[in-house]
Amino acid sequence: MNLPLTLSQFLIKQLARHPERDGLVAIISDLSTIGKIISNHTNRAGVVDMIGSAQKMNIQGEEVKKLDVFCNELCKDYLRQTGNFAAMASEEEDEVVDMGEFGKEAKYIIAFDPLDGSHNVEVNLPVGTIFSVQRLLNQFERTDERQFLQPGRDQVLAGYILYSASTVLVFSWGDGVYEFTLDQGLGEFLLTREKMSVPAECAIYSFNEGAYRYLGDKDKKFIDYLKEKKSCSLRYVAAMVADVHRTLIKGGIFLHPAVDKKGTGEYKGKLRLNYEAKPMAYLVEQAGGFCTESKGNLLDLPGESLHQRVPVILGNKDIIEYYLQNNLI
Ligand code: AHG
Ligand code: MN
Ligand code: MN
Repeated sequence: MNLPLTLSQFLIKQLARHPERDGLVAIISDLSTIGKIISNHTNRAGVVDMIGSAQKMNIQGEEVKKLDVFCNELCKDYLRQTGNFAAMASEEEDEVVDMGEFGKEAKYIIAFDPLDGSHNVEVNLPVGTIFSVQRLLNQFERTDERQFLQPGRDQVLAGYILYSASTVLVFSWGDGVYEFTLDQGLGEFLLTREKMSVPAECAIYSFNEGAYRYLGDKDKKFIDYLKEKKSCSLRYVAAMVADVHRTLIKGGIFLHPAVDKKGTGEYKGKLRLNYEAKPMAYLVEQAGGFCTESKGNLLDLPGESLHQRVPVILGNKDIIEYYLQNNLI
């Protein structure tokens, strides 16, 4: 019988082969525990009074849901006590979070979106958790925002947990992309995919079509090209984790391009660089795809601020290279 490896078995083997990954092995193990707890809560959201608004806005002017608060507190409290992180940044925290005494010996920092797509909770659709781990820079204070402005290329671990029909943990630490699926009965994550690779065929585009009229000309032409020349089908969950997961497995393009909703001529992205775009760009590149903020490789983009927003276009490498050549017809 060919039984899949449990995450624990996989991590023990990794540790034997790469003893230098000891810190990252511990971090993945801790994130998998967080994934089990959030999976449990999202599954029972309707019966544990976890649906709806927390009656407050975050620093980005977005309504915070009860489950956003729960997931953020869980990530903060659980990860703080592991002692693996010198600092953390979260979508739901205005500033860098100080780890105090716990972070004294830590070598890493982590940025996370504790609950991605939280508007999906009340209609029982997929949500996720996204994480990005980088090395602590010794030239700055631990809570200095510049810790988090390192280019995505320098991530040492990135991934997400998708809470959907199944709960899956997907991550990379630089040697391909792994997927583990939670067996709820066993309470264990099992290895279900390794060396994930974005398929060559580009049959799907994933984009909020309602925003088409707010796009710049180049992005409009690109969407037209995907529909008319590539005959792509549209799939859009509106939770980045779910849309990127499908892109990794089924191929295609996911786009959240810059929009100008006010008609002022100023085009802006929505997704956050440090805990949405950077980790997804890392995974997609590890799977042979490409991610751009519209001009270059998003992984080379230097950060400007903690909650910086950027346009994101990711997926099929050939088609994105075609887009970047800037001669769309
Ligand atoms: P969050 O719930 O963490 O704020 O993220 C929501 C994001 C992202 O997951 C998704 O891709 C995007 O918002 C959808 O935005 P639109 O509804 O504007 O398409
Ligand atoms: Mn998000
Ligand atoms: Mn979120």
